[in-house]
Parts: sequence; C-alpha cells; structure tokens
Amino acid sequence: MAFVCLADFQKKAETILEKSSLEYFQSGAGDELTLSLNREAFKRLRIRPRFLRNITKLNTTTTILGCEVKWPLGISPCANQRLAHPDGEIGTARATGKTGGIFILSTGSNTPMEEVAKGAPDTHKWFNLYIYKDRLLTESLVRRAEKSNYKAIVLTIDSQISGQRRADIRNKFSLPPNLSFANFSDSKASTVKSSGAGSGLSEYFSSLFDPTITWKDVEWLVKMTNLPIIVKGVLTREDAILAKEFGCKGIIVSNHGARQLDSVPATIEALPEIVDAVGNDLPVMMDGGIMDGNDMLKALALGAKMVFIGRAAVWGLACNGQKGVEEMLSILKKDFEVVMSLSGCLNLKSIQPNLVAHESTYAKL
Ligand code: GLV
Repeated sequence: MAFVCLADFQKKAETILEKSSLEYFQSGAGDELTLSLNREAFKRLRIRPRFLRNITKLNTTTTILGCEVKWPLGISPCANQRLAHPDGEIGTARATGKTGGIFILSTGSNTPMEEVAKGAPDTHKWFNLYIYKDRLLTESLVRRAEKSNYKAIVLTIDSQISGQRRADIRNKFSLPPNLSFANFSDSKASTVKSSGAGSGLSEYFSSLFDPTITWKDVEWLVKMTNLPIIVKGVLTREDAILAKEFGCKGIIVSNHGARQLDSVPATIEALPEIVDAVGNDLPVMMDGGIMDGNDMLKALALGAKMVFIGRAAVWGLACNGQKGVEEMLSILKKDFEVVMSLSGCLNLKSIQPNLVAHESTYAKL
C-alpha cells in the first residue's frame, strides 16, 4: 500500500501493532470526547484563501527559542517508542532532523537521552520533563539534558496523576521485559509493570510523580537551569499568564493527546485565548489532532508559532521504523507547502488570523 496521507500510516499500524501497544498509543482518557474533538474542531474552521500572488518563492523557515527550523513542525514527547519499532526514539529523532523540525524526547523514553543525542546529533532536541517526588532524580535529568545538548526543557503540567485510560486499565498495560524507561537505572523508576489491578503506567505516575507540585516548583526549575523552560499542557488564559509570570519562555497548548482529563477543549479551540493573553510575550505552540497541512495552516493562523504531532510519528515508526517517520514527515511537509501555496501564503508571517473563519460565519445557508 502506498502512503498518501497520515491516516494511511495509522491504518497500516493498526494491522501491525499488538493489541496492548496499539491501544496504549491510540486511546484517550474517559469517554474520549476530547480525542474526537481534537479532530472535529479543525473541521469547523474554513480557510479564506487569497489568490493571484506569485507563489514561486515559498519559505517555511522560522526561528523558535533560538532554534532555526526548516518548517514549524515538531514531534511531541511520546513515551515508549520502542513498543512501536526497535528504531524507537533514535529513529524518530533522526527522521525529524532530516526534515528540519524539533524533536521532543519524553522522560518515558525507551532509549537513554544520551544515546538519542549521540544517535541524532544534528536534530534540534528538547527534553520533556516530569517532576518526580525525588527531586535529586528530577534535577539529575535536567543536568543530563544540559550536558547532552538538549536546547530546552519541556515541563508537562497536566499529569500529576494519570488520566483514566480505559484501554490501558483493561489491558493491565505493562512494558514487555525487554523495554524500560531507559533514562533511569534504578528499577523503581525504570519499570512500568501493572500489579494486576489496572494500568501499570497509571501506577507509575501515582507512585513516582509529585502530586504536590505548584507554580512555585516551576519557579524552582526556572532557577535551576539556564535552559529555557517551556510548559506543556496549558489550556487556559489564566495558566498562560502564570506561566509567563513564573519565568517560562514558551507554552505548548496541549491536552496530552486527550489522554489526561477528558472533556477539556480541543487544543485548536483553546489556542486563541492563550495567544490573546500572552502571544506577544512568549511563543505559543500547540499539539493535538494535527493530521495534514490544512490543520497546520489553521493552527498557525490562530497564532501558534510551531505545531507538534505525536501519534502520527508513532504510526510512521510502526510501519517502517525511521524510514516510516521520514516518509510520513515528507508527505506532511509537501501537503503543508501545497496548502500554503494555494492559500497565497509565501511565508509563515503571512499566515494571519483572517486566513481562517469559523464555520458559523457561513452557517446562514
Ligand atoms: C505518557 O505521558 C503517556 O501519555 O503515555
């Protein structure tokens, strides 16, 4: 089967991955209302193209927190990528570098961060952090990220405990014996194994992540390192303003792929209020539901400086390792370029809010 769009990779991956792994990647929390909404909300936006502009010189480059990127697309932190394919995080990171985006490595990587850094030295890499009860352990992750040339710390703020992912509960999700959270050497922090009562990942979150954290701990992190702190998981203007006040240098509007709290807005719905609140002061980025160039354009028009995809990278990886991610990214890049051209946008600056309209604008018919 030839791959033409990102959904093709998903369809194929569904035939390759074993049930527990597939459902781990695929599922959202609760009734998966937000999981559907992340896609549906994009469909409610229409593009208002402008024609008769010379479109021969298309420029998709941008700079984000000092990183020059070839296009505004990055890979969200996804744990457990070696469940999808032995190439795992190194494969995804290399593929991301080849198309010139940013790769965010999850704390829950099945490959140690140093090996990913060595394996993909030319890729712009950020490190995604969770705050553990063990603060020395947390600090050691930051120090290792600094040493290994990661250019930012992306702090997930929506996961003090795990969302109720029903598939993982039913499957008693555990990592197979050959895989671990490889950033850790002690067995408690490296092992994801269900005790038999439900999801092993949920048990991991509850026993190791710090449920007491507040914005004061974000300040602790900001003071601990010279790397910029980006908070991921912001969904309201109120938290965006706090992120700015507590010294964060960027925001990723995210609902964790709809895997944490269900019934929160789609990220494309939440994006405008956050851009309105802090968009002049900090780069606001987003992930959630992006499947093609149209979605990318809509998110950029509503003020995102950069967009990220998560599951689609896992589907590419499952289909054909690093090569699968490369192919998926090149299809997405081509699609984004076509969509930019056909809407009359020659560069990212020309992607402005008046390029999109909500479907209600046209609903009189
Ligand atoms: C981890 O953060 C996950 O969503 O599985």
